[in-house]
Amino acid sequence: MVVLVAGANGQLGQAIQSISGKYPEIDFVFCSSSELDITNLENCQAVFSTHQPHFCINAAAYTAVDKAESEPSKAFDSNANGPENLAITCKKHNTILIHISTDFVFDAYFSEGIAYYDREYRLPLRSNLGLTETDVSFPSCVYGLTKLQGEQAIQANWEKYFIIRTSWVYSQFGNNFMKTMLRLASERDSLSVVVDQIGTPTNAVDLAEVLIKIIQSPNTHQSSNFGIYNFSNEGKCSWYDFAAAIFHQKGIKIDLKPISTAAYPTAAKRPAYSVLDKTKIKNTFDIEISEWQTSLAKCINQL
Ligand SMILES: NC(=O)c1ccc[n+]([C@@H]2O[C@H](COP(=O)([O-])OP(=O)(O)OC[C@H]3O[C@@H](n4cnc5c(N)ncnc54)[C@H](OP(=O)(O)O)[C@@H]3O)[C@@H](O)[C@H]2O)c1
Repeated sequence: MVVLVAGANGQLGQAIQSISGKYPEIDFVFCSSSELDITNLENCQAVFSTHQPHFCINAAAYTAVDKAESEPSKAFDSNANGPENLAITCKKHNTILIHISTDFVFDAYFSEGIAYYDREYRLPLRSNLGLTETDVSFPSCVYGLTKLQGEQAIQANWEKYFIIRTSWVYSQFGNNFMKTMLRLASERDSLSVVVDQIGTPTNAVDLAEVLIKIIQSPNTHQSSNFGIYNFSNEGKCSWYDFAAAIFHQKGIKIDLKPISTAAYPTAAKRPAYSVLDKTKIKNTFDIEISEWQTSLAKCINQL
């Protein structure tokens, strides 16, 4: 079985590479952005013609969330046009597309103990486990909007797809919040981290394992299973809690202060609440998910 990975040098791409040796039955084709530019349809078609993949994992994306506010067309190109090109190419080659999306397609928030998934109508979340795949998306920033447009472009062009929405991805690879915290802790004595955005960290290696599990599951080939799925680690926390756990597990002493979103303005507005309900992916693919603290410890041990 041939599995082509686009965006192979990004954080998730490297996480997939790191576990690929455990699956000798899979013939992985890892493509960096220079080998496969997903914004270029001809390039996509040439690469697919050469490798004839059974699955394509799209780990490629424009992920500079704040910068996207000032260069929306660049974000749109990689996050919406790119997935559209892959969907068109997958259709031509009958390849199953596994695309990674984000909790930033939502703009849910939390008020007086209740999570609401939209600000306009104040509709409470249907599941107390978090946002479900059918909850209405209201992206609050350019990055989230372009990622949602990417999901829609796939759905409009090819039916054999899995869109995996994930959140707060970190790992020993690439750039991410955990690594930024560790770097800042080596430069400063004190740090302020946002306390009023609630979500769930996701270890990129856990996500990579789940993608392989989906590829190898007999349920993958049932057409009724194609669609959108949520995946993150279990539990929930604020960015402040996440930072505190990183420092605690690494044995770092630092003066860590909670700060509100209002006191830490960023170019892009982030969702205040983006805990994802994982019931669908667990039931469909028989997946067990670790608590975020357990997965964080696994990652920190490997640093
Ligand atoms: N990181 C998070 O916290 C997070 C949270 C939720 C969802 N996600 C989603 O998870 C996926 C993986 O994220 P990540 O953290 O691994 O991102 P990342 O580290 O920024 O990697 C993205 C990769 O995509 C490549 N890329 C960008 N534009 C491309 C194009 N037009 N053609 C081919 N490759 C292109 C980049 O290559 P160059 O560096 O060469 O440009 C980079 O290697 C993305 O879909 C992202 O939206 C991430």
